[in-house]
Amino acid sequence: MTRVKFSFSLSHSAVALLAASTLALTTPAPAQEPVSTSALADSNDPVQRGLYLATAGNCMACHTREGGDPFAGGVAFHTDFGVIYSTNITSDETTGIGAWTEEQFIRAMREGKSADGSNLYPAFPYPSFTKVSDQDLKDLFTFMKSVGTSSDTPPDNDMGFPFNQRSLMGVWNTLFFDGERFEADSTQSEDWNRGAYLVEGLGHCGTCHTPRNALGGLQTDQALSGGTYNDKVEDDKIRPWSAVNLTSATDGLAAWSEDDIASYLKTGHGGAAGTFGPMNEVITMSTSQLSDSDVRAMASYLKSLPPVERSPQHKMSDQDFRAGELVYTIHCGTCHLPTGLGDPSIGPRVAGSSVVQAEDPASLINVIIYGAEVPAPSPPGAWKSMEAFGDKLEDDEIALLSTYLRSNWGNRGGPVTEADVEKQR
Ligand code: HEC
Ligand code: HEC
Ligand code: HEC
Repeated sequence: MTRVKFSFSLSHSAVALLAASTLALTTPAPAQEPVSTSALADSNDPVQRGLYLATAGNCMACHTREGGDPFAGGVAFHTDFGVIYSTNITSDETTGIGAWTEEQFIRAMREGKSADGSNLYPAFPYPSFTKVSDQDLKDLFTFMKSVGTSSDTPPDNDMGFPFNQRSLMGVWNTLFFDGERFEADSTQSEDWNRGAYLVEGLGHCGTCHTPRNALGGLQTDQALSGGTYNDKVEDDKIRPWSAVNLTSATDGLAAWSEDDIASYLKTGHGGAAGTFGPMNEVITMSTSQLSDSDVRAMASYLKSLPPVERSPQHKMSDQDFRAGELVYTIHCGTCHLPTGLGDPSIGPRVAGSSVVQAEDPASLINVIIYGAEVPAPSPPGAWKSMEAFGDKLEDDEIALLSTYLRSNWGNRGGPVTEADVEKQR
């Protein structure tokens, strides 16, 4: 299939909103405690291996609605054009995929087609899952056959014309979907290849962390250099987050060691940062449950990504800089220190932070307005939460402070405006 590349654009057209990065996911509460799966990775039992793979793919998070049966679907993905619900993928023969053949399952994962051949929407990350190996898909299918049944039926999608036409996705696939399997790079170590396979395939990190073009296609030439993810907070309210640059750019993970990344993915807390936004669910339900060697492999792969700098350098006027510094000193400096390097026992660094420097300042503004909740149970040595400043600071102060953080200590990032802040309220 042809692969079309577009230059980067932050604007979103109709079709863009059908793609996963721009969809809002109603965060489901896990219906059961995630099982510790490290021991399952090397199992000879296909059901156990499949469970491990389902954890790496975080199938449960997207397919379990709050209070619903595991894998029974019904999680709402909100778009400007309506709502798409995840499907029931239990082994129920009527409501789930119990009557599917292995071939039908593999075709769904690789080509985004349902049992009857109709196109699925890319809110289901088949553009990543297409990279998964034959054996892993077979084991995943065996596991899915074992999860039990649920008669839950997700509500009908609520989408207007023409977005309710699944055939439209055929055009999208021709333009943006290459359907390529993962190919190992023989010049790299086994670990690196394992990490690449997990990050690019089941882990579907690019679904949020890769920028999209105006039509919602992943911009593979800027893979993992940062994207935007819309989280749903209340009934009709969407809160955008920047999924940061994961390449070794200054505005990405340059300041992180491989250990920092591995510890962050395993515990939600690393030397360079903690988690507070949509990454919480990725970490608690998926990466923290993976084996140490797999998490380390992912870190090693991420650390090797060549830098893709996304954020421009910005210089503030002296007057604005001093005004920003004052706000920082009063409200933030105690924990993040005047050097911006943070105090390992009180708060992370803001100098070199990928959240601070992300091209899209959404996550930076969110941290300031809403604070940062360290997910429970917090790992040993983790700092305490950060309070919310949304009621203490006016939008223009938050904009000034954000621009200050992006212009100091060698940080990058364009100026943040009052309108940017307002969007996050
Ligand atoms: C980011 C959210 C997300 C993740 C992660 C996810 N899915 Fe889905 N999946 C969806 C959505 C949404 C749909 C419905 C798409 C549609 O109706 O077009 C879907 C549809 C499917 C279908 C098609 C079912 C049908 O009746 O046509 C299968 C099979 C499936 N998912 C399996 C899985 C498996 C296995 C995993 C884990 C490896 C997984 N999904 C992970 C969101 C997700
Ligand atoms: C009481 C100490 C404290 C104060 C005061 C404080 N923070 Fe924080 N900040 C934290 C902690 C702790 C975290 C990490 C939370 C986590 O791990 O979820 C954090 C996280 C952050 C992050 C995310 C960094 C990253 O890379 O993930 C940013 C940005 C940030 N703070 C900016 C600020 C700003 C701006 C102010 C002033 C308005 C401020 N903080 C005030 C403790 C503090
Ligand atoms: C559902 C969207 C989503 C997915 C999927 C996702 N991320 Fe993230 N990620 C985010 C967002 C949003 C942030 C920034 C704020 C936060 O949530 O902590 C982030 C932040 C990060 C950070 C930097 C944290 C910091 O504070 O600077 C790392 C590292 C990271 N993600 C790695 C990964 C990896 C590896 C994967 C795949 C296994 C992944 N992410 C999958 C949305 C996502």
